[in-house]
Amino acid sequence: MEKQKILCVGLVCLDIISVVDKYPEEDTDSRCLLQRWQRGGNASNSCTVLSLLGAPCAFMGSLAAGPISDFILEDFQKYHVDVSLVSEHAQCNPPASMVISNISTGSRTILHMNRNLPDVTAADFSKVDLHQFKWIHLEGRNADEQMKMIQQVVTHNSTLPPEQRISISVEIEKTREPLYQLFPHGDVVFVSKDVARHFGFQTVEAALKGLYSRVKKGAVLVCAWAEKGAGALGPDGVVLHSDAFPPETLVDTLGAGDTFNASVIYKLSNGGSLQDALTFGCRVAGAKCGFHGYDGISEMLRNM
Ligand code: ADP
Ligand code: FRU
Repeated sequence: MEKQKILCVGLVCLDIISVVDKYPEEDTDSRCLLQRWQRGGNASNSCTVLSLLGAPCAFMGSLAAGPISDFILEDFQKYHVDVSLVSEHAQCNPPASMVISNISTGSRTILHMNRNLPDVTAADFSKVDLHQFKWIHLEGRNADEQMKMIQQVVTHNSTLPPEQRISISVEIEKTREPLYQLFPHGDVVFVSKDVARHFGFQTVEAALKGLYSRVKKGAVLVCAWAEKGAGALGPDGVVLHSDAFPPETLVDTLGAGDTFNASVIYKLSNGGSLQDALTFGCRVAGAKCGFHGYDGISEMLRNM
């Protein structure tokens, strides 16, 4: 079987997005310009982008049951994302985010709630036929379980010649102590500006140099920094950088980071260099900030 798919493990939720041109004052009653439902969650958004870029991909995560979950599943199907590894929890409530998306600044303010939907476990993961994947991306969440999932991939890889091994990437986005144990377990580690700042680093370069000792030998550390672009550091010790590619008008930054991650993974998994991957990541993520949602990526690719 040809190993071609990219698997993203993590959250899918409902994003209820209110588009405004002025951020509301507390305790006021105002109209917004637009309101829409969108499938959200980091791993889910990255699947959307991978698919739009032309990479076969699969999502692994949990889903509740009911109309919101139906909306989510239909949307996955619309983007040709393989959902055969989604586990349904009929008795749980679907996680959701209220998002205020301000078109005057591009800012997105997120209020997220997950009442009781559990994350996928290492036991769920052990049932997956890993042969179908060339790359597995884990959005750092239930890190203790995710460590065991990675161990399963490492064991699987140990039976294979190097060129057939699955690459592993992890995203450490939230400033939660348990997530930091993931640093030494990715071939590619995405660390957020928030986490970098939490460790006391004020620039991409300082973060890459300061956090590189936490990743495993030979790994690549990647750090995106909104309008400042992104940087990466690999085993050769050279800090690479890409400027951001700001759109003509900043419209919607929701999922910019997920778009960046997907685009970097897409390039690297197709044999691109680290510099190419960084630049492509910033190019696609920057363009994404110029339109609502992700569909504009197809047009952007046609014009590239
Ligand atoms: P998030 O907050 O969604 O995780 P980041 O702020 O880390 O995302 O940004 C990810 C990438 O998206 C950046 O490296 C950059 O390329 C692009 N990006 C984000 N915000 C902007 C912006 N205001 N202008 C241009 N590019 C942006
Ligand atoms: C964007 C996003 C949203 C979701 C939120 C969860 O990166 O994945 O789609 O509501 O973050 O934290």
